[in-house]
Amino acid sequence: MSQTRARGAIIVGASAGIGEALAHELADAGYAVGLAARRTERLKAVGAELPTQAYVATMDVTDVEDARTGFFELVEAMPSVDLVVLSAGVGTGNRDLEWAPERETIDVNVRGFTALATAALEHFESRESRERDEYEGDGNGNGTQNGDTDGHLVGISSVAARFGNPNAPAYNASKAFVSTYLEGLRHRQATREADVTITTVEPGYVDTEMLLSDDPFWVASPETAAAHIARAIRQERSHVYVTRRWRLVSWLFELLPEPVVRRIVT
Ligand SMILES: NC(=O)c1ccc[n+]([C@@H]2O[C@H](COP(=O)([O-])OP(=O)(O)OC[C@H]3O[C@@H](n4cnc5c(N)ncnc54)[C@H](OP(=O)(O)O)[C@@H]3O)[C@@H](O)[C@H]2O)c1
Repeated sequence: MSQTRARGAIIVGASAGIGEALAHELADAGYAVGLAARRTERLKAVGAELPTQAYVATMDVTDVEDARTGFFELVEAMPSVDLVVLSAGVGTGNRDLEWAPERETIDVNVRGFTALATAALEHFESRESRERDEYEGDGNGNGTQNGDTDGHLVGISSVAARFGNPNAPAYNASKAFVSTYLEGLRHRQATREADVTITTVEPGYVDTEMLLSDDPFWVASPETAAAHIARAIRQERSHVYVTRRWRLVSWLFELLPEPVVRRIVT
């Protein structure tokens, strides 16, 4: 990754909530931003407010082949894509286990997430191998490599990943998938040529359209959440709770036996 090149970031799920707030944080930090989601007009409105160049890609991540094609087209349209943030997600209370919301949750949070996480890695790894060829081709070590990482993938999971939820079973299970998948990618990166940073973000409650509780506590604004995530990106963290005190809840759920968890969540 060349330091002279303008940095670029793609945010999938940038039309609202955490993704929208993060678009502002990253643009303020100098990134050109690729904004992706289904609602084109909202993406354009977000882009118009940014201080850097914005690129808009309409995509429905449940249409996985189209979403991957749209992702690679967006990469081509931007001068550089150094950072990919996967924030797109849905979650609905579904105690009656209706199939449609369970399926949509899995389609967006698991299938859509994985389709784009793999696309992001494919982009970073092909860029690394192109730049390595240029570097080795030079023969004098005067190529484009300069010690920076080859890319950075950030996935927005949730503290919900830590426990089974009787009100939204698919949502919590989908976030467990996201967290474990990203951990797998980090282990995989250890064996790869490309130096790609993988960050797992686990927020507690954030005040957005999807806030999944009638009785939320420790609620962060999307702006506060975005500021925490931007700092974790700068620090190239593997994992971050948003806000930090949510780690206590996470640790608690890890430690407690299932019957005790059941008394808390039912
Ligand atoms: N809010 C919370 O309390 C909370 C807590 C922990 C984790 N999270 C996670 O944070 C992430 C962002 O959520 P948020 O709170 O910012 O929710 P939000 O305000 O509802 O935003 C969700 C974003 O996902 C996009 N999206 C949903 N379905 C999509 C699809 N099929 N294709 C493409 N984009 C899609 C939406 O865009 P379009 O509708 O325009 O497509 C929107 O940009 C999610 O992964 C969520 O699970 C949220």
